[in-house]
Amino acid sequence: MKITSAEFIISAPALGQCPPAHRPEFALIGRSNVGKSSLINSLVGRKGLARVSEVPGKTQLINFFEINQAWRLVDLPGYGYAKVAKTQRHSFNVAVHDYLKERQNLRCVFVLIDANVPPQEVDLDFLRWLAETEKPFVLVFTKTDKLSQPKLEASRHAFTKAIEGWWGDEAPDLLNYSSRTGTGRSQLLQVIQGCLKN
Ligand code: GTP
Ligand code: MG
Repeated sequence: MKITSAEFIISAPALGQCPPAHRPEFALIGRSNVGKSSLINSLVGRKGLARVSEVPGKTQLINFFEINQAWRLVDLPGYGYAKVAKTQRHSFNVAVHDYLKERQNLRCVFVLIDANVPPQEVDLDFLRWLAETEKPFVLVFTKTDKLSQPKLEASRHAFTKAIEGWWGDEAPDLLNYSSRTGTGRSQLLQVIQGCLKN
Protein backbone atom coordinates (compact mmCIF):
# COMPACT_ATOMS: atom_id res chain seq x y z
CA MET A 1 0.00 0.00 0.00
CA LYS A 2 1.28 3.43 -0.89
CA ILE A 3 0.92 6.26 1.62
CA THR A 4 -0.13 9.38 -0.26
CA SER A 5 -1.19 11.58 2.63
CA ALA A 6 -0.98 11.64 6.39
CA GLU A 7 -2.30 14.36 8.61
CA PHE A 8 -2.95 14.94 12.27
CA ILE A 9 -6.65 15.54 12.91
CA ILE A 10 -7.27 15.98 16.62
CA SER A 11 -6.25 15.05 20.18
CA ALA A 12 -9.16 13.81 22.25
CA PRO A 13 -9.20 13.57 26.06
CA ALA A 14 -12.20 11.21 26.10
CA LEU A 15 -14.37 9.04 23.85
CA GLY A 16 -16.98 11.81 23.58
CA GLN A 17 -14.44 14.13 21.97
CA CYS A 18 -13.25 11.68 19.31
CA PRO A 19 -13.84 12.66 15.66
CA PRO A 20 -16.83 11.26 13.72
CA ALA A 21 -16.49 7.50 13.34
CA HIS A 22 -16.83 7.26 9.56
CA ARG A 23 -13.28 6.03 8.86
CA PRO A 24 -11.79 2.66 9.80
CA GLU A 25 -9.31 3.03 12.66
CA PHE A 26 -6.18 1.18 13.78
CA ALA A 27 -5.09 1.92 17.33
CA LEU A 28 -1.62 1.62 18.83
CA ILE A 29 -1.18 0.86 22.48
CA GLY A 30 1.67 -0.19 24.71
CA ARG A 31 3.82 0.90 27.61
CA SER A 32 5.10 4.40 27.64
CA ASN A 33 8.25 4.74 25.55
CA VAL A 34 7.62 1.47 23.67
CA GLY A 35 7.76 3.32 20.35
CA LYS A 36 4.14 4.02 19.38
CA SER A 37 4.69 7.49 17.96
CA SER A 38 7.89 6.40 16.21
CA LEU A 39 6.04 3.51 14.60
CA ILE A 40 3.38 5.85 13.24
CA ASN A 41 6.03 8.13 11.77
CA SER A 42 7.96 5.27 10.19
CA LEU A 43 4.82 3.58 8.86
CA VAL A 44 3.65 6.67 7.03
CA GLY A 45 7.15 7.96 6.23
CA ARG A 46 6.70 11.31 7.95
CA LYS A 47 9.31 12.02 10.60
CA GLY A 48 7.59 14.65 12.69
CA LEU A 49 3.95 13.59 12.37
CA ALA A 50 3.56 12.00 15.82
CA ARG A 51 5.59 13.46 18.66
CA VAL A 52 8.50 11.31 19.77
CA SER A 53 10.14 11.96 23.10
CA GLU A 54 12.95 10.76 25.31
CA VAL A 55 10.65 11.58 28.20
CA PRO A 56 8.12 8.80 28.80
CA GLY A 57 4.44 9.64 29.05
CA LYS A 58 4.47 12.29 26.35
CA THR A 59 1.41 11.12 24.47
CA GLN A 60 -1.36 11.68 26.99
CA LEU A 61 -4.33 12.16 24.73
CA ILE A 62 -5.93 10.01 22.06
CA ASN A 63 -4.28 11.33 18.89
CA PHE A 64 -5.92 10.77 15.51
CA PHE A 65 -4.06 10.74 12.20
CA GLU A 66 -5.88 10.44 8.90
CA ILE A 67 -4.06 8.45 6.22
CA ASN A 68 -4.78 8.56 2.48
CA GLN A 69 -8.01 10.37 3.40
CA ALA A 70 -9.42 6.89 3.93
CA TRP A 71 -8.39 5.41 7.28
CA ARG A 72 -6.83 6.45 10.59
CA LEU A 73 -4.01 5.61 12.92
CA VAL A 74 -4.81 6.29 16.55
CA ASP A 75 -1.96 6.91 19.00
CA LEU A 76 -3.23 5.94 22.46
CA PRO A 77 -1.60 7.16 25.69
CA GLY A 78 1.04 4.76 27.00
CA TYR A 79 -0.03 2.65 29.95
CA GLY A 80 2.01 1.87 33.02
CA TYR A 81 3.62 5.26 33.37
CA ALA A 82 3.70 5.87 37.12
CA LYS A 83 4.89 9.48 37.09
CA VAL A 84 1.66 10.89 35.67
CA ALA A 85 -0.55 12.19 38.49
CA LYS A 86 -2.84 9.48 39.75
CA THR A 87 -6.12 11.20 38.95
CA GLN A 88 -4.85 12.08 35.49
CA ARG A 89 -3.61 8.57 34.79
CA HIS A 90 -6.97 7.24 35.88
CA SER A 91 -8.87 9.49 33.50
CA PHE A 92 -6.63 8.48 30.62
CA ASN A 93 -7.09 4.84 31.39
CA VAL A 94 -10.82 5.39 31.30
CA ALA A 95 -10.54 7.16 27.95
CA VAL A 96 -8.47 4.33 26.51
CA HIS A 97 -10.77 1.66 27.91
CA ASP A 98 -13.86 3.47 26.58
CA TYR A 99 -12.25 3.91 23.20
CA LEU A 100 -11.18 0.26 22.92
CA LYS A 101 -14.52 -1.05 24.14
CA GLU A 102 -16.97 1.28 22.44
CA ARG A 103 -15.43 2.61 19.25
CA GLN A 104 -17.40 1.03 16.43
CA ASN A 105 -14.96 1.85 13.62
CA LEU A 106 -11.96 0.30 15.41
CA ARG A 107 -10.74 -2.44 13.06
CA CYS A 108 -7.61 -3.69 14.78
CA VAL A 109 -5.47 -2.93 17.84
CA PHE A 110 -1.70 -3.00 17.51
CA VAL A 111 -0.28 -3.95 20.88
CA LEU A 112 3.35 -2.83 21.02
CA ILE A 113 5.75 -4.81 23.16
CA ASP A 114 9.39 -3.81 23.72
CA ALA A 115 11.51 -6.67 22.38
CA ASN A 116 14.37 -5.59 24.68
CA VAL A 117 12.77 -6.42 28.01
CA PRO A 118 11.46 -9.66 29.52
CA PRO A 119 7.64 -10.08 29.58
CA GLN A 120 6.19 -7.29 31.73
CA GLU A 121 3.19 -7.79 34.00
CA VAL A 122 1.56 -4.57 32.77
CA ASP A 123 1.65 -5.84 29.16
CA LEU A 124 0.30 -9.22 30.17
CA ASP A 125 -2.46 -7.58 32.24
CA PHE A 126 -3.51 -5.50 29.29
CA LEU A 127 -3.52 -8.52 26.99
CA ARG A 128 -5.68 -10.45 29.44
CA TRP A 129 -8.17 -7.61 29.39
CA LEU A 130 -8.02 -7.30 25.60
CA ALA A 131 -8.59 -11.03 25.16
CA GLU A 132 -11.89 -10.64 27.02
CA THR A 133 -13.07 -7.88 24.70
CA GLU A 134 -12.51 -10.20 21.70
CA LYS A 135 -11.20 -7.29 19.65
CA PRO A 136 -8.96 -8.14 16.71
CA PHE A 137 -5.33 -7.34 17.51
CA VAL A 138 -1.76 -7.88 16.35
CA LEU A 139 1.26 -8.03 18.65
CA VAL A 140 4.16 -5.88 17.49
CA PHE A 141 7.64 -6.43 18.90
CA THR A 142 9.37 -3.02 18.82
CA LYS A 143 12.98 -1.76 18.69
CA THR A 144 14.17 -5.08 17.26
CA ASP A 145 17.19 -3.28 15.72
CA LYS A 146 18.73 -3.15 19.21
CA LEU A 147 18.97 -6.95 19.50
CA SER A 148 21.13 -9.58 17.85
CA GLN A 149 19.20 -12.32 16.03
CA PRO A 150 19.71 -14.93 18.81
CA LYS A 151 18.67 -12.45 21.51
CA LEU A 152 15.62 -11.49 19.49
CA GLU A 153 14.66 -15.14 19.08
CA ALA A 154 15.09 -15.70 22.84
CA SER A 155 12.96 -12.66 23.57
CA ARG A 156 10.22 -13.80 21.16
CA HIS A 157 10.29 -17.23 22.76
CA ALA A 158 9.96 -15.80 26.28
CA PHE A 159 7.01 -13.65 25.31
CA THR A 160 5.24 -16.38 23.36
CA LYS A 161 5.71 -18.68 26.34
CA ALA A 162 4.21 -16.10 28.74
CA ILE A 163 0.94 -15.94 26.77
CA GLU A 164 0.81 -19.57 25.70
CA GLY A 165 -2.69 -21.01 25.54
CA TRP A 166 -4.51 -17.72 26.17
CA TRP A 167 -6.21 -17.91 22.79
CA GLY A 168 -6.56 -21.67 22.72
CA ASP A 169 -4.45 -23.36 20.11
CA GLU A 170 -4.25 -20.24 18.00
CA ALA A 171 -1.22 -18.21 19.05
CA PRO A 172 -1.49 -14.55 18.01
CA ASP A 173 0.91 -13.14 15.43
CA LEU A 174 4.00 -11.42 16.81
CA LEU A 175 5.43 -9.05 14.24
CA ASN A 176 9.02 -7.79 14.45
CA TYR A 177 9.27 -4.04 13.97
CA SER A 178 11.96 -1.39 13.91
CA SER A 179 11.20 2.26 13.28
CA ARG A 180 14.94 2.78 12.74
CA THR A 181 15.41 0.25 9.93
CA GLY A 182 11.86 -0.19 8.62
CA THR A 183 11.72 -3.88 9.55
CA GLY A 184 8.08 -4.98 9.66
CA ARG A 185 6.75 -1.92 7.89
CA SER A 186 5.45 -3.66 4.78
CA GLN A 187 3.97 -6.50 6.86
CA LEU A 188 2.06 -4.07 9.05
CA LEU A 189 0.79 -2.19 6.02
CA GLN A 190 -0.39 -5.53 4.64
CA VAL A 191 -2.31 -6.20 7.85
CA ILE A 192 -4.00 -2.82 7.49
CA GLN A 193 -4.80 -3.43 3.84
CA GLY A 194 -6.30 -6.81 4.72
CA CYS A 195 -8.53 -5.25 7.39
CA LEU A 196 -9.65 -2.49 5.02
CA LYS A 197 -10.84 -5.04 2.46
CA ASN A 198 -13.17 -6.79 4.91
P1 GTP B 1 4.97 7.75 24.86
O1 GTP B 1 4.23 8.62 23.90
O2 GTP B 1 5.74 8.49 25.87
O3 GTP B 1 4.07 6.71 25.48
O4 GTP B 1 6.10 6.96 24.04
P2 GTP B 1 5.95 6.20 22.65
O5 GTP B 1 5.48 4.81 22.87
O6 GTP B 1 5.19 7.01 21.66
O7 GTP B 1 7.49 6.08 22.20
P3 GTP B 1 8.29 7.03 21.20
O8 GTP B 1 7.93 6.73 19.79
O9 GTP B 1 8.18 8.42 21.65
O10 GTP B 1 9.78 6.47 21.40
C1 GTP B 1 10.40 6.44 22.66
C2 GTP B 1 11.92 6.34 22.49
O11 GTP B 1 12.28 5.10 21.85
C3 GTP B 1 12.52 7.45 21.62
O12 GTP B 1 13.75 7.80 22.15
C4 GTP B 1 12.69 6.76 20.26
O13 GTP B 1 13.71 7.33 19.48
C5 GTP B 1 13.03 5.35 20.67
N1 GTP B 1 12.59 4.37 19.65
C6 GTP B 1 11.35 4.23 19.14
N2 GTP B 1 11.30 3.27 18.22
C7 GTP B 1 12.55 2.77 18.10
C8 GTP B 1 13.15 1.73 17.29
O14 GTP B 1 12.52 1.06 16.46
N3 GTP B 1 14.48 1.49 17.47
C9 GTP B 1 15.22 2.18 18.39
N4 GTP B 1 16.52 1.86 18.49
N5 GTP B 1 14.70 3.17 19.15
C10 GTP B 1 13.39 3.46 19.02
MG1 MG C 1 4.04 8.71 21.92
